[in-house]
Amino acid sequence: MGSQVLAVEGLSKGYISGDQRVLVLADLSLSVCSGESLAVVGRSGSGKSTLLNLLCGLQAPDEGRIAVAGESFDDAAAPGADMRWSELRRRTIGVLFQDVNLMPALSLLDNVRLRTHLAGHPAGGERGWLERLGVGGEADRYPDQVSGGQAQRAALAMVFAMAPALILADEPTGSLDRHTADEVADCLFTVQQQTGCALLFATHDRELAFRCDHLLDLSTTG
Ligand SMILES: Nc1ncnc2c1ncn2[C@@H]1O[C@H](COP(=O)(O)OP(=O)(O)O)[C@@H](O)[C@H]1O
Ligand SMILES: [Mg+2]
Repeated sequence: MGSQVLAVEGLSKGYISGDQRVLVLADLSLSVCSGESLAVVGRSGSGKSTLLNLLCGLQAPDEGRIAVAGESFDDAAAPGADMRWSELRRRTIGVLFQDVNLMPALSLLDNVRLRTHLAGHPAGGERGWLERLGVGGEADRYPDQVSGGQAQRAALAMVFAMAPALILADEPTGSLDRHTADEVADCLFTVQQQTGCALLFATHDRELAFRCDHLLDLSTTG
């Protein structure tokens, strides 16, 4: 097993709904090491997206401690916490959503170039990443000129090109048909294994979830 990349302790998050506070995540703890994958499953509304947003600093928890690649957060209001989160999102945490991963005004290749540049890596390997993810032939096309599966492969190329320690994927195959979803997920799991990064994979698709090393079911922990 690799070194610990993500560690979460006692995480809680609720939302105000009307005059009530609805607890979505209650006292959640987990950890993921390099080279490992953890599937986060649960019905719609069980808190998968909320959890992933907390883990990349886009939302603040009510309680709990999060550590990513040696950076520790136990108080969202601590001075400098926002800056440290944005630095992590730039260089260390690759985030994949169901849609809208690519900038529409840039070609697939330029999307990967921009992400690589923002992560502080030298240019040069971007076309190779698109080829590795099976969309080398589409490098000069724009996101609206490729299929959903090809766009998501380009998004994977973009995320892997930044050489992240951790990938947070929020239903990345959720808008794809079964066959395409399986192919894209294959690519994600294969390249994650090859690169040895840690992966947290949120999905309502239990078939895909069982391909991860570990499973966290939010339907039963909430
Ligand atoms: N910004 C928000 N304000 C209020 N309630 C929210 C907000 N985001 C999510 N929720 C609620 O929290 C619950 C969990 O949502 P979410 O994390 O999106 O679940 P999932 O991704 O598993 O479908 C849902 O009941 C949802 O309505
Ligand atoms: Mg969601």
